[in-house]
Amino acid sequence: MSPTLKLVAAYGALLAGLHSAWAAPAVRPASLAASTTVNAPNSVLSVVPVSATVVPAPEDANDLLWNETSDVQPEPQRGPLGTNILGPQNVPMDLQNADMLAPPSTDEGSVGSVKWPFSLSPNRLQTGGWARQQNVNNMPIATEMAGVDMRLEAGAIRELHWHKTAEWGFIMNGSVQISVINSDGQNYLATLNPSDVWYFPAGVPHSIQATADNPQGTEFLLVFDSGDFSEDSTFLLTDWLAHVPKEVLAKNFQTDMSAFSEIPGKELYIFPSTPPADDATAVSNPAGGPPQAFSFEFSKVPATPLAGGSVRIIDSSTFPIATTIAAAEVIVDPGAMRELHWHPTQDEWSFFLEGTGRMTVFASSAQARTFDYQAGDIGYVPASFGHFVENTGNTPLRFLEIFKSDRFQDISLQQWLALTPPALVKAHLNLDDNTIAHLNKTKGTVVKGS
Ligand SMILES: *[C@@H]1O[C@H](CO)[C@@H](O)[C@H](O)[C@H]1NC(C)=O
Ligand SMILES: *[C@@H]1O[C@H](CO)[C@@H](O)[C@H](O)[C@H]1NC(C)=O
Ligand SMILES: *[C@@H]1O[C@H](CO)[C@@H](O)[C@H](O)[C@H]1NC(C)=O
Repeated sequence: MSPTLKLVAAYGALLAGLHSAWAAPAVRPASLAASTTVNAPNSVLSVVPVSATVVPAPEDANDLLWNETSDVQPEPQRGPLGTNILGPQNVPMDLQNADMLAPPSTDEGSVGSVKWPFSLSPNRLQTGGWARQQNVNNMPIATEMAGVDMRLEAGAIRELHWHKTAEWGFIMNGSVQISVINSDGQNYLATLNPSDVWYFPAGVPHSIQATADNPQGTEFLLVFDSGDFSEDSTFLLTDWLAHVPKEVLAKNFQTDMSAFSEIPGKELYIFPSTPPADDATAVSNPAGGPPQAFSFEFSKVPATPLAGGSVRIIDSSTFPIATTIAAAEVIVDPGAMRELHWHPTQDEWSFFLEGTGRMTVFASSAQARTFDYQAGDIGYVPASFGHFVENTGNTPLRFLEIFKSDRFQDISLQQWLALTPPALVKAHLNLDDNTIAHLNKTKGTVVKGS
């Protein structure tokens, strides 16, 4: 037999098996009707209906089985599969991660963890604040970006410093004053409010100080355009000067060594100080300010309403200096979902600000895994991995999608299929004409609950 004929014969055998398995169907999807026309083993390959060559995807219920507040004993069981735990169990963790313990039946294969809770990051406590980080060491799949959650009391300063990667900041609470200077000696000072952002290109020196607008100070999120960034290896003003001979300092600044008798003997990093005035302006400068602002009042950008929530995008189309970080703030109503989509070339680093959600990432080669998220968790989706984010709670889900890119870009599964010849779509998915006619040519971004 030729290889083609062998293949056709194999289809015939498969069909015979399927046909008998479906002889007394308890749940027989209507769409199977066409596939019951059994093809003779000598049919040519091209006329075998696609639905007859592969068993249809099962219709299992794959809901979230419990959540972090459910009064249940979480067990690794879904339908007929799995059984209870007899060994030790971390119940609070299992309550937060239902889709890990009892995955949807659509999950398969191994996908590296795309979840990291800041709760598992060692915190660095300082007088005046703290900082904790996520990078490729605690989340190996996150090779392109890293993040820091930082808290400063009113007046406290994240000291003057620089680093080899660019930094994108988003204020979660309170307000900050940032100071920056570029390599042309142009300086910049700005006071920013919740949901405002900043961007410091690689190597550009800056500081961040909490104002007293919130008497408790501020907390903000930092994202860096490199997965191996470490907040503990930034170049600090005090660390450097503590490691320069004082004779050299005197020569450099054309003064006496005694002028440096009180400089700190080691780095400060985060330290308390007096809150700055909100209306402070940059030091007057013959070189003037930079051609592009280092910050952007993202808080003033109106959200675009969507069927299931809203979205606000910030990238270099409106914030020109941000050439390596683009972002979207997404709100998903209860029951609604950030639609099935992917980002063509950029990895996504996401941060959950409010609510709870679940995301399944599809990694090609029959690999897909579902992760559950609470506020304070980080998500990560490598470029091209298909995914969705479902709101699993009773309150809005608000999260940031952040990309190492100058532009926000995504491809919507629904839009793709709506704009592909219907016969081609039908040949793949066996959808009926109604369903195909219903495909929406407009990108939904966030679709409403059914
Ligand atoms: C900011 O923090 C204050 C506590 O100082 C809290 O009451 C408020 O809800 C927080 N605001 C946001 C937007 O999280
Ligand atoms: C969590 O699950 C319980 C049922 O176990 C449900 O009553 C409650 O509404 C759920 N909470 C959220 C936030 O979805
Ligand atoms: C298609 O999607 C857009 C955007 O979500 C929505 O406004 C519109 O109502 C949808 N059209 C149909 C026919 O559902």
